[in-house]
Amino acid sequence: MNLDLDFVRRQYPANHWHCAFFENAGGAFVPNAVIDRISAYMGQTQVQPGYPSAISTAAAERINLGHRLMAEMIGADVDEVTIAASTSINVYVLAQALRHQWNTGDEIIVSTLNHEANSGPWRRLAEFGLNIVEWPITANGSLDMFALDSLLNEKTRLVAFPHVSNITGEINAVKIITQKAHNVGALVCVDGVACAPHRAVAVKNWDVDFYLFSFYKVFGPHLGCLYGKPEHLLRAKGQGHYFFPEDDLLHKLNPAGPNHESIAALTGIADYFESLAAHHFAAPAATFFGRTQELYNLFAQHEESLARQFLDYLNNRADISLIGPARYEKEVRVPTFSFQVEGVKSSTVPTALAADNIAIGEGHFYAKRMLDSLGLLQTDDGVVRCSMAHYNTADEVSQLIDALEKHLP
Ligand SMILES: Cc1ncc(COP(=O)(O)O)c(C=O)c1O
Repeated sequence: MNLDLDFVRRQYPANHWHCAFFENAGGAFVPNAVIDRISAYMGQTQVQPGYPSAISTAAAERINLGHRLMAEMIGADVDEVTIAASTSINVYVLAQALRHQWNTGDEIIVSTLNHEANSGPWRRLAEFGLNIVEWPITANGSLDMFALDSLLNEKTRLVAFPHVSNITGEINAVKIITQKAHNVGALVCVDGVACAPHRAVAVKNWDVDFYLFSFYKVFGPHLGCLYGKPEHLLRAKGQGHYFFPEDDLLHKLNPAGPNHESIAALTGIADYFESLAAHHFAAPAATFFGRTQELYNLFAQHEESLARQFLDYLNNRADISLIGPARYEKEVRVPTFSFQVEGVKSSTVPTALAADNIAIGEGHFYAKRMLDSLGLLQTDDGVVRCSMAHYNTADEVSQLIDALEKHLP
């Protein structure tokens, strides 16, 4: 079965399709279902939730529903999931909440591949006596698994790495890395931001300790999701108001407090996925988690064909240097492509394509350490990035290819 793209695209505001959008790794379009939910919350129940009045009770119910559905979607329990402003703040708060358990000389392994969100907050712990150990990447921008084996030891307390690179799109072996870390008694903190728009999250299957992603890349509002195993959340030091008890897992790692209307709008992601599942499957799985897994299989299959189409083009141009795997298979990558073009300033490419109504990006995308380590960053220039989502069409990829052909020398 194929993804019915006409049906998919009808779920979004029609004006989105006037441009061929390939900056999805930065932030994805939001379907009408999400817009309707945020509008209903703000139009009908924008009051402080949790008091006895009907309006306040309804507000609380809407917030709780959004939270519960997102936990279900990733196979977690509600109190294992903190929903806060962004992944960047979630990692920062998590690092501060965990550091008290560790001693001077304990080690944290941080991958060079990380977006800065899963890097800087751990590196700051050097101020508290932790040793930060760099996990280098290979010359083609992959995690170096042999290096990891030599870095892990009995002093390792945590390994921070991305599930997927937001530069290369390569999928990392999250289960294997997690197992290796666990073998020496270390925890893992996995940045799933570049993965979650493309592969269904299944935190329990992977046995990860902490897993993060951002809803605004998963067709939702601008919020971040932090999953943690309850035993680790319990041991973490609460970062919120002093009167929240340490076993209040929902609040202890969210000192800024929840954004009510946005959490209520998360239900719209579930509405969207449910309508796609009902449309595509005669006998959908029994749980929302199961239906999400099935749906993402369709996304992955469609995205693989887009990746193949675009890679055929990139691989045929000798002047384009792709960063990461020159392979399209869905087991290997998601459709996020970064490259440089010989003799062309990267920053000129998105501007040229914008004139043809095609949206792509350029820069270091906050994976600055990674691109620096490969020697790919000039002071004023980075890499070109084109990233697809399940709602992109083969026609749009053709437009992208035609525009590159037109504008590149
Ligand atoms: C791989 C990756 N990790 C983390 C982040 C940061 O997410 P947030 O904007 O929610 O802090 C991004 C954002 O682009 C990202 O691409």
